[in-house]
Amino acid sequence: MNMSGKARAHTNIALIKYWGKADESLIIPMNNSLSVTLDKFYTETKVTFSPEYTKDILVLNGEEVNEEQSKKIYQFMNLVRERSHTSHYAYIESVNYVPTAAGLASSASAFAALAAACNEALNLNMSDKDLSRLARRGSGSASRSIFGGFAEWEKGHDDETSYAHAIDAQGWEEDLSMVFVVINNQSKKVSSRSGMSHTRDTSRFYQYWLDHVDEDIASVKEAIRNKDFKHLGEVIEENGLRMHATNLGAQPPFTYLVPESYEVMDIVHQCRKAGYPCYFTMDAGPNVKILVEKKNQQFIIDALLKSFNKEQVIASDITNTGIEIIE
Ligand code: ADP
Ligand code: DP6
Ligand code: CO
Repeated sequence: MNMSGKARAHTNIALIKYWGKADESLIIPMNNSLSVTLDKFYTETKVTFSPEYTKDILVLNGEEVNEEQSKKIYQFMNLVRERSHTSHYAYIESVNYVPTAAGLASSASAFAALAAACNEALNLNMSDKDLSRLARRGSGSASRSIFGGFAEWEKGHDDETSYAHAIDAQGWEEDLSMVFVVINNQSKKVSSRSGMSHTRDTSRFYQYWLDHVDEDIASVKEAIRNKDFKHLGEVIEENGLRMHATNLGAQPPFTYLVPESYEVMDIVHQCRKAGYPCYFTMDAGPNVKILVEKKNQQFIIDALLKSFNKEQVIASDITNTGIEIIE
């Protein structure tokens, strides 16, 4: 008998970044992180287990992924087999409604959707907490994509204690949106995984990062409680830049940012000067994400469209929907 399940998970963008692992194999992070889950970008994944398969196969966006690039998937599926006492291999069909490996968090929606699809296919009846722990093993940021709205990944200290949960923002997320400026949607040269590992191991600024991230988490939670957009924005912008500064302190140094990234940062500053509060953040790629109140979204978009074309500027609501079983 074939066992199958299909799930959808949305990407999330960290406002306070996860950057560095305490345990590379279990994916335990060095610090807590906090994100918003986005309506526009998601992954849909169907997984089918069968005794007839002789290996795991991933078909991503209609194309079979080669063995070299499927290593993360094989490891993840081995974990699923271990905990479900199944020996069957799986056929995985996944579609990313987000550019893959471009610093737009495809790994987050991908492994959250895969965890949920496996849970469904194998009737594992996992709680959201356990799904978050499982998704984490595929990609750290995926632990947060189990949930909608604001989510915090508690770093914990082992496999049991490291997982994300939703943060109640009393509906504030409905007033906010994120504007994406897609500078490059091609696959990046330095994956999040290798970038953060190199930085954690060699950056002269890494300890400084660790020394301040707990304060940032506390400030963001306070800003959410008070629905204080200016406070929220100031903290997240600083935190994101500090993450990128750690990369410049690595030996050898590197950066994900390009001239256009700085151009967008400058436009954000100009919008603020003009009286429209908005704040940027960047991940492991050159693309810039701008957090803004919906009432000011159009002003920001218009400002961006003076320098970028329509296809490059994408606005997304924050969704309250976590993982969903579809079909
Ligand atoms: P991103 O910024 O997109 O999260 P990462 O470097 O963190 O980039 O992760 C990209 C990797 O995630 C891809 O190379 C691939 O291994 C994996 N991935 C992305 N989408 C999927 C998917 N739908 N199914 C399985 N694996 C995926
Ligand atoms: C900069 O979750 O993609 O986007 O755990 O190695 O798969 P792995 O890395 P990943 O890293 C995301 C890094 C980030 C910040 C964040 O999302 O918190
Ligand atoms: Co990723």
